[in-house]
Amino acid sequence: MNKKTVRDIDVKGKRVLMRVDFNVPLADGKVTDDTRIRAALPTIQYLIEQGARVILMSHLGRPKGEVKPELSLKPVAERLSELLGKPVKMAPDCVGPEVEAMVAELQPGDVLLLENTRFHPEERKNDPAFAQQLAKLGDIYVNDAFGSAHRAHASTEGVAHYLPAVAGFLMEKELNFLGKALEAPERPFVAILGGAKISDKIGVVKNLLGKVNALLIGGGMANTFLQAQGYDMAESLVEQDSLDTARSLLEEGKGKIFLPTDLVVADAFDADANSKVVSVDGVPAGWRALDIGPETVEHFKSKLAGAKTVVWNGPMGVFEFPAFAKGTVAIARTLAELEDAVTIIGGGDSVAAVKQAGVADKITHISTGGGASLEFLEGKTLPGVAVLLDK
Ligand code: 3PG
Repeated sequence: MNKKTVRDIDVKGKRVLMRVDFNVPLADGKVTDDTRIRAALPTIQYLIEQGARVILMSHLGRPKGEVKPELSLKPVAERLSELLGKPVKMAPDCVGPEVEAMVAELQPGDVLLLENTRFHPEERKNDPAFAQQLAKLGDIYVNDAFGSAHRAHASTEGVAHYLPAVAGFLMEKELNFLGKALEAPERPFVAILGGAKISDKIGVVKNLLGKVNALLIGGGMANTFLQAQGYDMAESLVEQDSLDTARSLLEEGKGKIFLPTDLVVADAFDADANSKVVSVDGVPAGWRALDIGPETVEHFKSKLAGAKTVVWNGPMGVFEFPAFAKGTVAIARTLAELEDAVTIIGGGDSVAAVKQAGVADKITHISTGGGASLEFLEGKTLPGVAVLLDK
């Protein structure tokens, strides 16, 4: 990575304004998955040890520029405090005189969490005056929010114009893993794409085709490719508007793109629907594909055997329904069993799938970014990264 990090700047005694991605799931006022909070700990702990005054900011959900008490970061401050084993002060807002006074009182090693940046409409507008108000709170800006780096918002991009801006350790790790996979992967390099829609992933398919040795496509998006090849997908999710694009991608990716050869189909979109395995040319009228079939799993496994780099984004089926999770779970297990391979998983659903399969600890790198990792795989420059100081 060619960006400066917290290691390249003196943070001792400084007010360090750090953007984290604490956009975590909540239920009944408690954090239900603290993965993103844990992922930010190495940078926070480093700053504490260095005697910085740590001021954390994040968005949570999409409150549309209004104060929504249910999207307060308070539960996150509580969880962070437990994980750090020290108090984390919670600010009532992210800008303004009261917050400035709280910052002024911070001692070296103290941690303050600002309230949800998206309670202000100026955040998403990347309003320069608002970014300046945020910048007032720090001497140095650290961006460790890889998961939000594809957003050009005031706290992810704007603020970096007013302070020396460097990456945190999580940002560095994410960019190193994903960057190496795209720029200098150990080969064979195999990518697996799934998820519901091809329209979300056209850019990713295009970019990856120029880099991978094989591209395995499953999940809902495979239906559109299969229909583009002339198969009748019956009631399956197919994006009619993307059939031409699918055809041209298949042409471009000849010999590299591998699609399902069989499917698990269901007579309803329901966890308890009747289901059966059919060949791709035998989807019965009134039925829909909800998972890849066993023959496809074996075929994909054979393509993954011996791979040295694997990137996976998007499930192979509707894995939230146990009856249609087999393909996704089998792919997760296959990745976990690959020897000497760098395996990288991005996107909330595939991450949930490896956790469900109980193999998360056997994956080399699980990205904390959903949209951000997809945009990175598309080859796009992430605004929250571009704005950081070059090495
Ligand atoms: C995410 O969860 O992908 C990030 O936190 C970004 O959230 P957003 O899609 O609401 O900008």
